[in-house]
Amino acid sequence: MDGPSTLAFYGLGAAAVATSVATLKKRLELSQAKHRSLAGHSRLSRRIARLLPFYEYGESHFFASDGAPDEIVAGRRAGFDRLSALYQARFGETIRRTAEASKSISDLQFTDAYRVPFQYRRLVQEKLPSAALVQSSSGVTVTDLDGNANYDLSGSYGVNVLGYDFYKGSIERGAARVRELGPVLGPYHPLIIENVELLKQISGLDEVSFHMSGTEAVMQAVRLARYHTRRSHLVRFCGAYHGWWGDVQPGIGNPVPAHETYTLTEMSEDALRVLRNRRNIACVLVNPLQALHPNVSDASDSALIDSTRSAHFDKDAYAEWLRRLREVCTERDIVLIFDEVFVGFRFAKGGAQEYFGVRADLVTYGKTLGGGLPIGVVCGKSELMKRFRDDRPVDICFARGTFNSHPYVMGAMNEFLRYLQTPQTDALYYDLDRVWDDRARTLNQCLAAAALPVEIANMSSIFTVCYREPSRYNWMLQYYLRAEGLLLSWTGTGRLNFSLNYTDADFADVVDRFVTAAKTMRDDGWWWRNRNLTNKTIKRTVLKEILMHRFLGASR
Ligand SMILES: Cc1ncc(COP(=O)(O)O)c(C=O)c1O
Repeated sequence: MDGPSTLAFYGLGAAAVATSVATLKKRLELSQAKHRSLAGHSRLSRRIARLLPFYEYGESHFFASDGAPDEIVAGRRAGFDRLSALYQARFGETIRRTAEASKSISDLQFTDAYRVPFQYRRLVQEKLPSAALVQSSSGVTVTDLDGNANYDLSGSYGVNVLGYDFYKGSIERGAARVRELGPVLGPYHPLIIENVELLKQISGLDEVSFHMSGTEAVMQAVRLARYHTRRSHLVRFCGAYHGWWGDVQPGIGNPVPAHETYTLTEMSEDALRVLRNRRNIACVLVNPLQALHPNVSDASDSALIDSTRSAHFDKDAYAEWLRRLREVCTERDIVLIFDEVFVGFRFAKGGAQEYFGVRADLVTYGKTLGGGLPIGVVCGKSELMKRFRDDRPVDICFARGTFNSHPYVMGAMNEFLRYLQTPQTDALYYDLDRVWDDRARTLNQCLAAAALPVEIANMSSIFTVCYREPSRYNWMLQYYLRAEGLLLSWTGTGRLNFSLNYTDADFADVVDRFVTAAKTMRDDGWWWRNRNLTNKTIKRTVLKEILMHRFLGASR
């Protein structure tokens, strides 16, 4: 090789090495920014989920899976039988008709299968069957087919912020206002104009698009971000739920891998570094509900195999994190999306943006905003909301939906948005956190006074139940709560969503019932423990069982 070609050769070699070093560095940064839990590793978690074998406990091991002595086991069995008899006596008709309906409702079959850890499922389904049919609601209660009025702690997946009577009224009054038009789609009912104006004021953003669910609103926000930045990847944070669309659910639950999603650790410097150094990131999705348990998935009792569930809300720390995220997104032209489908309007009129004092580029809303009817909304800056390019007529960002802007939804939404403008709402939001922090504290004090191993963490009116002593049976609490007339969603004690129309008297009654339920559970022996029972030994036991069933096909 002559001089110049040798030089060129070495030059190319050096460039190649530099490129691979840079690529390697970025890869390393990315893996450092992943949360160490399985939820932080979508591919791995999906692979492991496929390998996990089903096995179940026979009746005797069901009551003794923590090695409790015979007299404790007998107490548990007696408690379980008593509960079962009470369920049949009190919820008989509701249970019978739910079981009948469940044969053909796949959603019910799914939720019913995931109320408790799968090893215990069969006996629970048989003896404490679900009662998922209800006939009426009033105040803060919902009444089942047997006529039992239960306190609603489920909050209809977070939709019920203002109380069911409010939404019944908004649906009715909204329907009356659009009745002349009926279900005409395509052209809009003029109520849409006021809705858009109010949404612009509330969000502080320029434009609005209407969709049929929160999932679709998130899909559209991400699609717009990709379209305008011409970048491929979205960043979501470990544990955060954003609906069930593939790209935002890259791990367990989605049969197809998501190739253009990074799942990073929330509230971490490493994540900010990735945002700073990668050029392919279109947007960052934040679900502010995660402030209650950063990097941990929605707490469901089916995952409650021990007592490691923990939660703690630190408003200032989360606000600081959002500010830092905002800074990096602005610096790198990354679209910051607040997914307020769950928290929107629960903490403040201006949603999480107002509550945490940080502004997003796009905001998704849903749930309660529909005034009781299905909805998804995106609010955003004009330059991000535009779905076509003036200079490239065929390069568009398509989004439609037959039922978008349905007149009846616009009617109920208008009632909701107008109500937000009233002095009553100002009064409601004023002091809201103090009210709910006090209530959570009262409940915790009562639990502690009764020496119960249960503790509440709350983010305003959203509660989650944590367990202070190692136990394999915490998931039983949901059944004792039900017996005391407290209605939970299928995820059990992981999430209690109180509507804001709970009075002090209602809440005091809930506290009494909650404490009674926990005491009864304790007296039935479920929280027995000895020195050898730790969260670590529980995990080890379960892992051993899984390995035995996977590799030896063991049966118990
Ligand atoms: C933060 C968040 N985003 C999106 C969704 C999806 O909304 P939908 O169930 O209306 O599709 C949810 C639903 O719980 C949510 O909590």
